[in-house]
Amino acid sequence: MKNNEMRIVKIQNIKMETSKVKTIFFEDELCVSSAEPGQFLMVWIPGVDEIPLSVSSVSDRLVSVTVKEVGEATRALNMMRRGGLLGIRGPFGSYFRAAGKSALAVGGGIGIAPILMLVNKLLREGVKTTLIEGAKTRSEIIFKDQLMRLREEYGLEVIFTTDDGSYGVKGLATEAAEKSLSEKRFDSLYACGNEIMICKLLSLAEKHGIQMQASLERIMRCAMGICGSCVIGKYRVCKDGPVFNSLQLKEIRGELGKIKRGFRGERIPVED
Ligand SMILES: Cc1cc2nc3c(=O)[nH]c(=O)nc-3n(C[C@H](O)[C@H](O)[C@H](O)COP(=O)(O)OP(=O)(O)OC[C@H]3O[C@@H](n4cnc5c(N)ncnc54)[C@H](O)[C@@H]3O)c2cc1C
Ligand code: FES
Repeated sequence: MKNNEMRIVKIQNIKMETSKVKTIFFEDELCVSSAEPGQFLMVWIPGVDEIPLSVSSVSDRLVSVTVKEVGEATRALNMMRRGGLLGIRGPFGSYFRAAGKSALAVGGGIGIAPILMLVNKLLREGVKTTLIEGAKTRSEIIFKDQLMRLREEYGLEVIFTTDDGSYGVKGLATEAAEKSLSEKRFDSLYACGNEIMICKLLSLAEKHGIQMQASLERIMRCAMGICGSCVIGKYRVCKDGPVFNSLQLKEIRGELGKIKRGFRGERIPVED
């Protein structure tokens, strides 16, 4: 089966992560056999829209996406119930690759979704991993139980940060990353979250001389490199990304964290 063929899947389970975030589980053989951390699916919500969502977990039988409600399509998806039908295409795009023996992974907001799958993979491959999950406030922290289990089982070091200090360390995920990088030597830095955060982490990776991989978001339509709606610099995020390495991130520095395309292709500022 080709990854671009739409498959109709039935929702098998739904986990409420917060009042605005749900993890939706379904069966899909192609994802189970081939999805890698950082890859995404185009999820069609019948009668509403088709949107890109990262794969957040893959087990023997089930695949999940973790969805934050921000607009019409994500709201409609999060209102669906077990047994509801969705269309999926994918998995698409580049993915996070294990490099070295120690890793610092940073997930900001819903950017923690692909980072959870990555961290699972790194730990299983014996990579000593530190994870920073950054959220605005306590009620927005997700995956706490899974991360605590990974800490028990594999020795994952977990640092939570909240902007208001209501849980974990008060401050930004980038501040915690700066502290970790100054205290320990890591072989790789991985990130997914808003672009302002990714820009700061890129500067930190350069300062400490380590390789970085980051997952970026752009408006996506075709997910096959044809329509051009996801362009950043010389790259199309759906095909060349969504995961980019340090070298590529440096090449698109002029736009990264500054400019993105709107739904009509217009250039609009990136918000924090
Ligand atoms: C590769 C990739 C992976 C993603 N993974 C996740 C994930 O795991 N979980 C999650 O909750 N969200 C994820 N997103 C973002 C998600 O696609 C958007 O939140 C969603 O499309 C918004 O649709 P909406 O109709 O609810 O909101 P809208 O009202 O359409 O828009 C709300 C916001 O989402 C942005 N957006 C809208 N449509 C798209 C689109 N097609 N592509 C990218 N951004 C869009 C808009 O610029 C706007 O800022 C990912 C995006 C990309 C590109
Ligand atoms: S979404 Fe069409 S080129 Fe990337």
